[in-house]
Amino acid sequence: MKNVIEVKNLTKEYKQLRAIDDLSFTVREGEILGLLGPNGSGKSTTINCLLSLLKFNSGNIKIFGQDMMPDAYEIKRNIGVVFQDVAVFDELTVYDNINYFCGLYIADKKLRNQYVEDAITLVGLENYKKFYPKQLSGGLLRRLNIACGIVHKPKLIFLDEPTVAVDPQSRNNILDGIKSLRDQGATIVYTTHYMEEVEIICDRVIILDKGKIIASGTIDELKALANIEEKVTLEVIDLDLKYLDEIKKLKHVDDISYSNNLLIITYTKGKNNLVDLIDFLKLNKINYTKIFSERPTLNDVFLYLTGKELRD
Ligand SMILES: Nc1ncnc2c1ncn2[C@@H]1O[C@H](COP(=O)(O)OP(=O)(O)OP(=O)(O)O)[C@@H](O)[C@H]1O
Ligand SMILES: [Mg+2]
Repeated sequence: MKNVIEVKNLTKEYKQLRAIDDLSFTVREGEILGLLGPNGSGKSTTINCLLSLLKFNSGNIKIFGQDMMPDAYEIKRNIGVVFQDVAVFDELTVYDNINYFCGLYIADKKLRNQYVEDAITLVGLENYKKFYPKQLSGGLLRRLNIACGIVHKPKLIFLDEPTVAVDPQSRNNILDGIKSLRDQGATIVYTTHYMEEVEIICDRVIILDKGKIIASGTIDELKALANIEEKVTLEVIDLDLKYLDEIKKLKHVDDISYSNNLLIITYTKGKNNLVDLIDFLKLNKINYTKIFSERPTLNDVFLYLTGKELRD
């Protein structure tokens, strides 16, 4: 598989702050690569360096096999960007905004109309073509922002947190749209601090923290890193803490925590640890309200690698 992006030893400092620190990674043709990291971990800075919008201190960036430079217009023509902050024209309708951005790349009017319609369908704005940005809800405005960035059918698309402040239904629409762009052949770099999104759409993930790559791989590979196969959460009101040590000794238990009446138990092996646990609870007459078992999340991976939560 071809590499669409190759980044080697990229470092960017803002005065004293090293915002990105010796990053090296590749993005393969046709994949959705997720850049996942908490606020301030360097996601936007990385994208802005890749686009040559920001000068960096050291490193090397190749896109489509060529050196990326501020004047690399042939490369830029094949790139679409959806910035973290919505950037559309308030004076133009939904249709005219998308048509404007398309016109920067596509001169032929008939083709342009087709592309604009395709983008509108992709983000589901069919009923809002004549609306002005100010008349749109936050989620619809985000969808317009995305349509403007991808309307020229670029081969490589950067999306920087495109779903922030979007309601769950719009978010799902947006994620479906992004997957269909990938299925139509685009290569996508997607930044987010929502691990759920990464699990839904990304083929591969790079986890960033404080400007460094702390892990990368497929979602399964990342989950394997945390050495946890099952996580059980149960609500127990006022658990007697003397039981914690005993639970810890149950088969396959890796770690336990208890706070706010929530007992969380992680297991290194198996998918059926609930049976042993429920037996133990019965035997000791411990009442619980909720209980559920799940596979570890990327948050667990982040917690394992950094000792802190990915969530804000
Ligand atoms: N123009 C700037 N001047 C100085 N420091 C900056 C500038 N832009 C970003 N930073 C700092 O660089 C670090 C990385 O910021 P960046 O915006 O790349 O993070 P991010 O991962 O995109 O965060 P978020 O999830 O909040 O968008 C942060 O500590 C941030 O405060
Ligand atoms: Mg950002």
